[in-house]
Amino acid sequence: MTQRIVIDPVTRLEGHGRVTIELNDAGEVQDAHFHVTQLRGFEKFVEGRPFHEMPSLMARICGICPVSHLIASAKACDQLLAVHTPPTGKSLRRVLNLAQMAQSHALSFFYLSAPDLLLGMDAPPKDRNIFGIFESDPQLARDGVRLRQIGQQIIEILAGKRIHPGWVVPGGVSEPLTAEKRDLMLAMLPEAIQTTRRTIDWFKTTFADFEEEIRSFANFPTMFMGLVGPDGEMNAYEGKLRFVDSEGRIVADQVDPRDYADYIAEAVEPYSYLKSPYYKPLGYPDGIYRVGPLARLNVVDTMGTPLADRELMHFHRLDRHSSFHYHYARLIEMLYAFERIGSVLNEPTILDTHVRAQAAVNAHRGIGVAEAPRGTLIHDYEIDDDGLITRANLIIATGHNNLAMNKGVLQVAKSFVKGDRLTDGALNRVEAVIRTYDPCLSCSTHALGQMPLVVQVMSPDGQILDEKRR
Ligand code: MG
Ligand code: NI
Repeated sequence: MTQRIVIDPVTRLEGHGRVTIELNDAGEVQDAHFHVTQLRGFEKFVEGRPFHEMPSLMARICGICPVSHLIASAKACDQLLAVHTPPTGKSLRRVLNLAQMAQSHALSFFYLSAPDLLLGMDAPPKDRNIFGIFESDPQLARDGVRLRQIGQQIIEILAGKRIHPGWVVPGGVSEPLTAEKRDLMLAMLPEAIQTTRRTIDWFKTTFADFEEEIRSFANFPTMFMGLVGPDGEMNAYEGKLRFVDSEGRIVADQVDPRDYADYIAEAVEPYSYLKSPYYKPLGYPDGIYRVGPLARLNVVDTMGTPLADRELMHFHRLDRHSSFHYHYARLIEMLYAFERIGSVLNEPTILDTHVRAQAAVNAHRGIGVAEAPRGTLIHDYEIDDDGLITRANLIIATGHNNLAMNKGVLQVAKSFVKGDRLTDGALNRVEAVIRTYDPCLSCSTHALGQMPLVVQVMSPDGQILDEKRR
């Protein structure tokens, strides 16, 4: 006989999710799940559509991370054309991808997680939001708003519109960069870098306050996966896949992303519509791995930019398994993104007007892989002779992390949930461990925006013993 505590939906996540915590008769946590309860039909929906529509169509999967889908989709289409994208076209896509990483990380860190990090996991729920940060640390709040804004402004300068930009097309980008726009972007970077460094300096002083969270927030050995360049450096736009084991040893390296299916398989669990990918050679569920900021910083040898590399040295001395450190990894990547945007925009050929390769269909399968803010994003398309999609498979970051998030919820629930009543602090920590992964539920479900929190404690026969609403 078991009792279930239901947290539905999880607050301050981007989208919609549900958590259930199952108690045994002794009132101890027995099992826990993070459910993604709605199915996106995008893979089916695109069948029969012309491939060249895919980038702009895919950008509509998600209101949270349209740029990431746009880029992975365009890369898949490049392969259907079987063209070499002009180097300047690639560089401009790279800047867009980095700007998306910066703005998304700013949203996750400052708006969604900083309330817990600044005010504490036990602070009153009414204060744990961006307004609470404005009250107690206006500088931090302003920094967060500004960093997100700079990322969004760069996206807008390049792609025109903030959401669903159509500037990225199969074969490259539709318009070259002007000197005026380049200089506008370059002028924002010193402030962005200085502000990110200030946030990092503050955040590192808080680690001592979160020892219990660092120890219990999805802290267990797993593999990690991410894209790296030829020298093991961070390369979010076009690296090759690297897998490391739980000790940090490289087990597969420089894997062409087009061979992903040799290394990754997807399992289906009854509690979620989201598939659970795993590392194929180890099988399911032993092949659990994580992606995203923590994973990328655990797989790379170097960031390749001076300030981020200095932080990486510090990061590599921390507990590599604790998902609490996704936050710090996110800040380091933000710093990297702004540094790297600067070096790409200073490339002597960045204003070159040859930014797009034109061709008809030359291949029947295209696989586009890029590092999205939340982790490795895979778009895999097959087309017929007329260029119509016959099969599409997408693997999103929230999918890769599905197993680890479930395991993390169980670990936190075991540490903080006592008895059949949820304390507010326990409830918040269950949500907070999921927030470390910044899951994009908009991608995997259809829901956008946030809904009020309902928490139910269920008896074995389904009666509600306790209910909380926020
Ligand atoms: Mg899929
Ligand atoms: Ni998304």
